[in-house]
Amino acid sequence: MCGIVGYIGPKEACPILINGLKRLEYRGYDSAGIALIHNNNIQVYKCKGRVQDLEHHMELEDTSATIGMGHTRWATHGEPNDANAHPHTSMNGLFSIVHNGIIENHALLKEKLQARGYSFQSETDTEVLANLIEYIYTKGQVNAENAVRLALTKVIGAYGLVVLCKNEPDQLVVARKGSPLVIGVGQSEYFVASDATPIVEYTKNVIYLNDDDVAILKRDEMILKTIKNTPVSLSIQQVDIDIEKIEKGGFPHFMLKEIFEQVNSIYDTIRGRVNAEASEIYLGGISEIIPKMVNAHRIIIIGCGTSWHAGTVGEYIFEEFTRIPVEVEYASEFRYRNPIVDANDIVIAISQSGETADTLAAIKYAKAHGATVIGICNVVGSSIARETDAGVYTHAGPEIGVASTKAFTAQISVLAMMALQIGHRKGTLSDELYKKYINELYNLPDKVKAILEKNDKIKEIAAIYKDSTNAIYLGRGCQFPVALEGALKLKEISYIHAEGYPAAEMKHGPIALIDENMPVFAIATNDNYYDKIVSNIKEIQSRKGHVIALVNDNDAQVKKLAEHVIEIPETLEYLSPLLNVIPLQLISYHIAVMRGCNVDMPRNLAKSVTVE
Ligand code: AGP
Ligand code: GLU
Repeated sequence: MCGIVGYIGPKEACPILINGLKRLEYRGYDSAGIALIHNNNIQVYKCKGRVQDLEHHMELEDTSATIGMGHTRWATHGEPNDANAHPHTSMNGLFSIVHNGIIENHALLKEKLQARGYSFQSETDTEVLANLIEYIYTKGQVNAENAVRLALTKVIGAYGLVVLCKNEPDQLVVARKGSPLVIGVGQSEYFVASDATPIVEYTKNVIYLNDDDVAILKRDEMILKTIKNTPVSLSIQQVDIDIEKIEKGGFPHFMLKEIFEQVNSIYDTIRGRVNAEASEIYLGGISEIIPKMVNAHRIIIIGCGTSWHAGTVGEYIFEEFTRIPVEVEYASEFRYRNPIVDANDIVIAISQSGETADTLAAIKYAKAHGATVIGICNVVGSSIARETDAGVYTHAGPEIGVASTKAFTAQISVLAMMALQIGHRKGTLSDELYKKYINELYNLPDKVKAILEKNDKIKEIAAIYKDSTNAIYLGRGCQFPVALEGALKLKEISYIHAEGYPAAEMKHGPIALIDENMPVFAIATNDNYYDKIVSNIKEIQSRKGHVIALVNDNDAQVKKLAEHVIEIPETLEYLSPLLNVIPLQLISYHIAVMRGCNVDMPRNLAKSVTVE
């Protein structure tokens, strides 16, 4: 995600852009920039850091202009620095663009442009698009709008885009595919932004662009068409003026928004990396290390909290597909217990924030002992991303809620892609199963959507157990770490004591806790453990425990046993944690809200634990 603002009209553009970017910083905040048309030139001001750093950067400049655009970045390609900050200007200075999204085929396009003499100043995918537009504009002798449209027909990926052309200084060209853009319609002035928050103070009349829409905004005219140049009728709507509500996308809390974003965040994490037709997985950030991983004698996965849970799911997936022994370690324990690590070890460090002190320290320990360390982070250019030898970024977008949700499923998606690629290379994963998994990855977003449609039913179940003082979560196999994650979610946002267990462990003591006051969330989806979890559920019930079971739609047994069931679309066993966790996220969310807890900022917690 990132934040985009554009303006054309009679007012001074700069303050509109700066204030608009401040409203959008929740969408990304690692660098910021604006471009203004000043004396028929495109003036670009940009720097690493927050919008206020950009203001400081510009304070002595003459920023008078009545047309411009701005961007606050959430990096996906190229670490946060001045050069990678948006706007990006084409090589000959004819175009400047701001972009939200991922250009999946940027590498191939960059090669072709370099072969045609184009040079690049940044590592971003966005700059490739800026040069592609200029190339088509000059080669094709077309106007700016047509150059943008033609360039976008060559792009694979997602964009919310605003383009300034030096030779056509009285217009903004805007295009949308996969990343949101809203146009504000004022009196002889137009606004464009990633959401309505920068616009509402100027006008309530907005047009939400759809995928493949292209808009040309002039001082007193707006033309709306498709990328194929067919006219589009305008449908102006009145926007909700509650800014905080807009920031949360209409959701009451960031956590709920981020749970629902998993339809897109899982897809964004695999997009451009999994080619189902060619049955190929390409993880650019670790491509040089893959051979070493294929021959690894051991993989150590380190992390904290939810990231540690994702790593534990990863253990099941890696050992099943690659037959490489995997150990999962709490980073805080690993760093101090004088572990045995050497140059034969591959260490995978998982961290949403990329700033967790224990994980960073554990990485340094592992590197000091010769291990090769790979990072799985959600924040490009974060400390952990820079400390590791290589890595794969999750593309979950900013995760604002303290309780991690979409980062967890994005982390598992990356681990699954890694294990599939290595297992297939090693020959420990059959070609048939490899292809099945690759195809199923692309089926997940729709299955996530199907689960989210049950939110109301899940809320009803949550209401029954909102006053519980304890809860137990049970799972077997790769559902066991999902049980741990479900328990952590409930603990950290509703303050109810909850524990996750491998279901068979109950008889080794915890079953003494079961009575009529104990809700037990059991993950009983179809896998090799199904019959055994059915027995565990019967054991719980014989002691009057209340069982809330996650089952697949076609379940025949558990539906007759459990007090409540939540039906989950079926998927392949080692991808099922991606789906099974979602109802548990929702249950903890609804219980916390019903208990009046501060869901996005729970007591005693911080989003990133940068201290020991
Ligand atoms: C999870 O909901 C918590 N916010 C916490 O356990 C978190 O996962 C942990 O602090 C690790 O954070 P990281 O992924 O940013 O390293
Ligand atoms: N992919 C672009 C970049 O990394 C845009 C990222 C965003 O949407 O913020 O700069």
